Amino acid sequence: MSLIYLNGDYVPHEQAKISVFDRGFLFADGIYEVLPVYQGQPFMLAEHMQRLHNSLHAIGITPPHSPAEWEAILRHLLSIEQLDNAILYIQITRGAEFPRNHLPSPNMQPTVMAYLVPFTPPAGEPTPVKVELLEDIRWLRCDIKSVSLLGNILLKLQSSASGGQEPILHRAGRITEGASCNYFIVKDNELITPPADELILAGLTRQHVLNLARGAHIKVREQAFSTAELFAADECFMTSATREIIPVGQVGNEIIADGHCGPVTQQLIELFRASRS
Ligand code: PDD
Repeated sequence: MSLIYLNGDYVPHEQAKISVFDRGFLFADGIYEVLPVYQGQPFMLAEHMQRLHNSLHAIGITPPHSPAEWEAILRHLLSIEQLDNAILYIQITRGAEFPRNHLPSPNMQPTVMAYLVPFTPPAGEPTPVKVELLEDIRWLRCDIKSVSLLGNILLKLQSSASGGQEPILHRAGRITEGASCNYFIVKDNELITPPADELILAGLTRQHVLNLARGAHIKVREQAFSTAELFAADECFMTSATREIIPVGQVGNEIIADGHCGPVTQQLIELFRASRS
């Protein structure tokens, strides 16, 4: 990563600076987006632009760029960085003002930042991972892709201290999602994932997997499932833009089914990889 898009300019990353009075720094008052690029082509661009718009709308920031302007910024970064496969990170905060005040002034100028990192799309045999079941201690608007991620980070730290890749979170025994991914289980050949309500981020990998499953005539249910259903599942996997689909072989001390990547997960991984090119 060398070039940063910052408020209309493209600057080398060591020169990209923002105010210490930026509300993103002081209050985590901002949102972000993470978009994969395969072979020079942004993946689900319209959907990512819609989610960006939804997050901005939810916190009352006027979109600083249209989707077409974002695409131009992305294409410029891709050509400068000479990357085929990349992850575009976008962050928009409410902007900076002095002195610090919880209540922002109206009509602030947002801080807009974006950059690319190289991406190696997952390939080869998927390796099932171990995850930790933890209580979801986050706020009640997890549908907003907010940079306020302290809850997620504490959960990740707790999970990694117990040897888990990602936490799988529950509220009162109902699975929600991970700290940076969505979760699915398979039971009796049916694919089940929690509904895209305010307790989870509506992952676009999740949405794509649901579409692929429906297209392959796999039965799909968007419904909350319990920790007991998780432990009794035939298969379990997580999804995110950067990891695509990762099978889960173990939750805490419990092995899920036989701990291997199950046939439905394997089929969805193959369909996903075929769909990205
Ligand atoms: N995280 N849930 C949470 C809390 C997330 O942070 C993410 C993504 C997802 C999956 O969304 P998608 O399939 O659109 O990536 C679900 C990104 C990758 C991140 O924070 O870097």
